[in-house]
Amino acid sequence: MEDLIDKLENQQKLSRNEWIRLIQGRNPQISNYLFQKARKIRKQHYGNDVYIRGLIEFTNYCRNDCYYCGLRRSNQNVKHYRLSKETILSCCETGYQLGFRTFVLQGGEDRYFTDDIMADIVSSIRIRYPDCAITLSIGECSHERYRRLFEAGANRFLLRHETYNSSHYAKLHPPELSAAHRQKCLWDLKEIGYQVGTGFMVGSPYQTPENLADDMIFLKKLNPQMVGIGPFIPHHDTPFKDENAGTLELTLFMLGLIRLMMPKVLLPATTALGTIAPDGREQGILAGANVVMPNLSPGDVRNNYLIYDNKINTGVESAEGRKALEKRMDAIGYRIVTARGDSLN
Ligand code: 5AD
Repeated sequence: MEDLIDKLENQQKLSRNEWIRLIQGRNPQISNYLFQKARKIRKQHYGNDVYIRGLIEFTNYCRNDCYYCGLRRSNQNVKHYRLSKETILSCCETGYQLGFRTFVLQGGEDRYFTDDIMADIVSSIRIRYPDCAITLSIGECSHERYRRLFEAGANRFLLRHETYNSSHYAKLHPPELSAAHRQKCLWDLKEIGYQVGTGFMVGSPYQTPENLADDMIFLKKLNPQMVGIGPFIPHHDTPFKDENAGTLELTLFMLGLIRLMMPKVLLPATTALGTIAPDGREQGILAGANVVMPNLSPGDVRNNYLIYDNKINTGVESAEGRKALEKRMDAIGYRIVTARGDSLN
């Protein structure tokens, strides 16, 4: 097994069978071997720096009905909200004062935000914060809409591919959604010029080591600037309410593998990782991650953006929250930096 990790470290491609063997054959010893190498290579490119992204969850309306997500359209128990442009801008202002230089506008696929409305929000942020990166995470859109928002000033886009394999994709999504269309969106985004983030859930229902192998091969091929992965966590108002959550152990292992395979990629220690274990994000950093994405949404709406159960409330809207995060990273030998944190990939 160590041979496969060495191969990855030397930037050699693994075959599908090798990926499967590595993922299936992992054990604590191999994991430690992997994490050591992942930390080393991360240090070479990014030192001990941890980039922060301010997450603004601006709408929890979604037209989609994904089986895993608490914000799915069939969930009648969602307390819906939309943030106004003014509120979004004030979240940015708070974030800017706290040292954030990337704002991530994340939301469900909400038709209220037409191309005009969305472009107006993006260009308003762009004018006020010329030195900041604007990241969108608003799902599948037409090439035209992606292009328009890019021209309005957005630089980056996060769209997880969720799972590469189309039959696995079909087990997680209703029939109107497809893996092929999801992937087409990612290629569109790259072509337009966005810095792209993709990713998948670890331990989603019906996921096999073969599926994860295909995810790794897809990542290598797409070569995105960022890869977001986190454990699947059931939400009580979804068809997957009784499914098992993904594990911390497998998520950390996949993080290490991604870091070795793509040395310069931006790799967040996600909120979901911080939700399944109290020190999940710290462990993520120690497995090779180099980004954290605290929440800048107003406190009163934050409890309504519940894509899974027990989601942690990592609010840093206050200076204290921001300090606490800094302390936590400090305690494991890493430091939060105020920088746009563009990908070297
Ligand atoms: N558990 C973990 N992650 C989830 N996501 C959606 N629902 C869940 C869940 N129940 C992830 C998806 C999506 C991202 C915004 O959150 O991967 O792309």
